[in-house]
Amino acid sequence: MNLPNKKEARVRTNKSSIIKRDDYIVPDSVKKAGKSKNYCILTYGCQMNVHDSENISAIMEEMGYTKLEEINNNTDVIILNTCAIRENAHNKVKGMLGRIKHLKETNPDIITIFCGCMAQEEGIARELKEKYPWIDIIMGTHNFHKLPIYLDELLKSRKQEIEVFSIEGDVIEGLPVKRDSKYKAWVNIMYGCDKFCTYCIVPYTRGRQRSRLKEDIIKEVEKLVKDGYLEVTLLGQNVNAYGKDLDTDYNMANLLESVAKTNIPRVRFVTSHPWDFTSEMIDIIAKYDNIMPYIHLPLQSGSTEILKKMGRRYTKDDYKKLFYEIKSKIPNCSITTDIIVGFPGETDKDFQDTLDLVNELKFDLAYTFIYSKREGTPASKMKDNITLEKKKERLATLNELINKYANLNNQKYKDKITEVLIEGKSDKEDNLMGYTDTMKLVNIKADKKYIGKIVKVKITDIKTWSLDGEIIES
Ligand code: SAH
Ligand code: SF4
Ligand code: F3S
Repeated sequence: MNLPNKKEARVRTNKSSIIKRDDYIVPDSVKKAGKSKNYCILTYGCQMNVHDSENISAIMEEMGYTKLEEINNNTDVIILNTCAIRENAHNKVKGMLGRIKHLKETNPDIITIFCGCMAQEEGIARELKEKYPWIDIIMGTHNFHKLPIYLDELLKSRKQEIEVFSIEGDVIEGLPVKRDSKYKAWVNIMYGCDKFCTYCIVPYTRGRQRSRLKEDIIKEVEKLVKDGYLEVTLLGQNVNAYGKDLDTDYNMANLLESVAKTNIPRVRFVTSHPWDFTSEMIDIIAKYDNIMPYIHLPLQSGSTEILKKMGRRYTKDDYKKLFYEIKSKIPNCSITTDIIVGFPGETDKDFQDTLDLVNELKFDLAYTFIYSKREGTPASKMKDNITLEKKKERLATLNELINKYANLNNQKYKDKITEVLIEGKSDKEDNLMGYTDTMKLVNIKADKKYIGKIVKVKITDIKTWSLDGEIIES
């Protein structure tokens, strides 16, 4: 048994990461463990977790398990891939644990696996061990590649297996992957985060920044091109800092250029911290048609005072300068953002600064959150003097403004012709859905033969969150 430790998780050294290519093994004894058995994986949180779940699914299938989309009484293995970013992420997972406990009462053979960022939290790992002894395997974000070994132990001993390391491991190469889509793929370029924004739990749950080698990334993208993929999204908590932990001058701008040169039709990347966004990167995005004109650029607050308390290391004016440089070099670029309201000490004036900046920059979209105190982070020790009522009020005011500009930005697309990668059926019956280069969701009435193709679409109608369109080319 190995539980995580908050103090250890804070430690950063400047040693280079070790790339491990032989660490993933499936012992012979579990190679057929999943024969005529199924598993269901429930994923919470960001794209990082979504992609980890694609790896975990493939690992389960290498042991013979078959995937189920929803859990039921006859599910053999339930995997919870959890998120710790805000309290409501915790609550969702705890609600699901209640449901699984109930299922387990009717079918005690169900194997439950708990992984992801919540498992990396010291307090949570302890709570799980004490209050949820029926969870069979608890593993962290640094060691899920050892799942076959934990499962092997569990099947032999039927004893709870807990292994969560506080200190990040290495870069594990050679994991199998079962991608959710046949057309667009996530590609990790780095793990972890060294930014330590004062409110954020991620540097503790994901560890030190570790970049993958460029050769491994390019090889993965080249294979995707060969397999017919049309889009890759380069993934990391702070992709602009790619390479800074390696002994090389090769940076994110260089990587974007190399990936663009593989001729994959669409290249995207998330998430961009404004701090590391260079002019060189903007020039490369502007230069290559297959790097999509869409940037998610989290602002967090429009008040320089609050940004300082958040440890974001840029001012309101730095952000504006970057925003306008992007817009001037890539005129059709859409820019979305993340904003937190109710950070400790946020005054009416600070909040007004955020509203003023939103009014000036008119984001295409923003994900907005009420500040959530995370145990062990520096902000958790700051005096939180704003009532929940006030925070909710600020969120509602901000959302109203965000929606106004989302709609206004979408209006520009009316009657325009744009390219859409058709991904599949939309929630609405008979419709197909896909995204423009600028990441606008488009619903289209069309034959399903278009799925998996990039087609020209005329935008016929505008909604706040999506566009309607019709295909004008086969
Ligand atoms: N690495 C990304 C963000 C990852 S988390 C970046 O730095 O841009 C996604 C978003 O969750 C953040 O941008 C932030 O707006 C929000 N978030 C993170 N911690 C939070 C907290 N404690 N309370 C509320 N929102 C939070
Ligand atoms: Fe969290 Fe900041 Fe790292 Fe983003 S950059 S993951 S907000 S610490
Ligand atoms: Fe959540 Fe972990 Fe992502 S905390 S947002 S799943 S990195």
